[in-house]
Amino acid sequence: MKQRSPWQRTHTCGELTLANKDQEVVLNGWIENKREHGKLVFIDLRDRYGITQLAVDADTAGMAAGTFDTMLRLGAEDVISVRGRVRPRGEGNVNKNRVTGEIELCVLSVTVLSEAETPPFEVLDKAEANEELRMQYRYLDLRRRPLQEALMKRARFVTAVRNFLQQQRFIDVETPILTKSTPEGARDYLVPSRVHPGKFFALPQSPQIFKQLCMVAGLDRYYQIARCFRDEDLRADRQPEFTQIDLEMSFVEEHDVLDVVEAMYVHAMKEGFGIDVPQPFPRFDFFEAMDKYGCDKPDLRFGMLLQDCTELAKKSDFKVFAGAVAAGGIVKGICAEGAAEKFSRKGIDELTAFVTQLGAKGLAWAKVTAAGVEGSIAKFYEGDKGKELIAHMGAKPGDLLLFVADQKRVVHKALGDLRLKVGGILGLRDPKVFRCCWVLNFPMFEWNEDKHRWQFAHNPFSAPVDWDIQDFGVDTENIRSRAYDFVMNGWELGSGSIRIHRTELQARVFEFLGISKEHQRANFGFLLDAYKYGGPPHGGIALGVDRIVTLALGREGIRDVIAFPKTAMAFDLMAAAPGEVSSEQMKELSIRTAVEPPKPPAQ
Ligand code: AMO
Ligand code: AMP
Repeated sequence: MKQRSPWQRTHTCGELTLANKDQEVVLNGWIENKREHGKLVFIDLRDRYGITQLAVDADTAGMAAGTFDTMLRLGAEDVISVRGRVRPRGEGNVNKNRVTGEIELCVLSVTVLSEAETPPFEVLDKAEANEELRMQYRYLDLRRRPLQEALMKRARFVTAVRNFLQQQRFIDVETPILTKSTPEGARDYLVPSRVHPGKFFALPQSPQIFKQLCMVAGLDRYYQIARCFRDEDLRADRQPEFTQIDLEMSFVEEHDVLDVVEAMYVHAMKEGFGIDVPQPFPRFDFFEAMDKYGCDKPDLRFGMLLQDCTELAKKSDFKVFAGAVAAGGIVKGICAEGAAEKFSRKGIDELTAFVTQLGAKGLAWAKVTAAGVEGSIAKFYEGDKGKELIAHMGAKPGDLLLFVADQKRVVHKALGDLRLKVGGILGLRDPKVFRCCWVLNFPMFEWNEDKHRWQFAHNPFSAPVDWDIQDFGVDTENIRSRAYDFVMNGWELGSGSIRIHRTELQARVFEFLGISKEHQRANFGFLLDAYKYGGPPHGGIALGVDRIVTLALGREGIRDVIAFPKTAMAFDLMAAAPGEVSSEQMKELSIRTAVEPPKPPAQ
């Protein structure tokens, strides 16, 4: 057996307790802080596992010569090895919040392993330095406990996913990173080829085509913890490279995929984060979700559903309501329970401004009292009419009713977002509560206003609900696909579908989307060909790992759960990537840039 060198740790900084009393141990770690009290110095020593308090007492019998002076000289982030004896902390110094809080290490000797320059910011649990600086020195930022916790729990979650899928007979298959464009709707990251001048690989936006080919190959159940690359506008929930739990199954219908993923998710949330997610996850039809929640990613942590008041509005004297219905629109409302007192006139004006920004023409409101309703619509809802409205909304005294009248699309957008806003204000969106659901049967196509054409809503491989559909050009808006989304707390965490597995149907979809025969051949020819040789019915899904971890840990954005993320400008501040390359490299790759190369520095 190999000998431990004397400087090497016998324990980590997170494990010593009173059970180790009087033991002589060695710890290795970073100095988190130092407190000097004359001949007694306290140091918090940190490693990944925790913190141990070191007590350096100049009068300690048997302390190696020079130890006290060395300790005085050391500062934050220096890396040391200390040998010492475990002793109980003095009265009043016990820290119940730490595993090691009842002991301290009475230092006998120290070895400096590495001295640190003054760091550009203090390594604190709660980051105080600005994010840019922290991203530039990410390795320092990663020393912070919240980030370490995120990475550890993320790893535990992913391991649980792997174990679960492995047990369910899924095979972990690696698909190419250097590949061709994959149609997920974002721009590609391209890689020039040296050996094929003028030609480029694309980094995969997802392993979509390859996982379908795995099904044609007869692998039956595929999965991969897959890195995906998308050149798109970034937001708090998007990064140019991110990770998916990607899977695909053969001979399945929707419920087979949903059942496996649901069980996997519940298992891994528990293993990874200790979170119990209530089951079963409700399954909504797309239109049902839109009708009830005004959006396709319902937040189920609270009710306040959108209620249709169109019939009531038809006979209303309130012109705003009756007029909207006459113009082919609808009227819907939400009932915020017990919220009448919580919203002053000013508060309601703010809600009105909020929906107006979303395209609504206004916000009609009423506070329910024992006598009837008060508010902007009260004069049209006196007496029985008021009672009828209250009964229709299922409201009681003290509730606040909010209505929008307009075309359906506007009403859903405005009230859907308003529901979330009011729910937030009322504290109904507790980040520690987790509610999942499925949304099924998404529209197959959506109209792109800018490009003036139909485009696929999920991806062009999703099968239509009606397999026998002949003409995608008729009633296009209402054609449904067998695509589904996985949603938690109002965030889309995953998407998938049952796929088209027949060449001719796939070709017709491409054709309808205006993807030319040449383009089809060039980009998906191998998939179309593959189906000619026996493609099984199949379907799958991809879940965004970064988003899941962010939500589970209640973090602000996915950057907080990625070891080395990029900025909102898709830039790696630490490595300064992307960067320029030498003219030799460019030449070798047979490429030229239209951007002027930077001038060499003046001599
Ligand atoms: P989709 O494009 O919907 O589907 O992606 C699936 C999930 O991946 C996550 N995600 C992202 N996470 C971080 N940053 C991004 N830029 C980003 N883009 C997507 C989301 C999303 O729900 N091939 C299909 C899946 C399939 O049909 O099987 C696909 O990639 O959580
Ligand atoms: P007005 O008759 O324009 O003064 O509006 C009376 C109330 O109805 C105000 O509270 C407006 O914000 C609201 N309102 C106006 N248009 C709409 C609409 N399309 N939907 C809901 N409320 C509206």
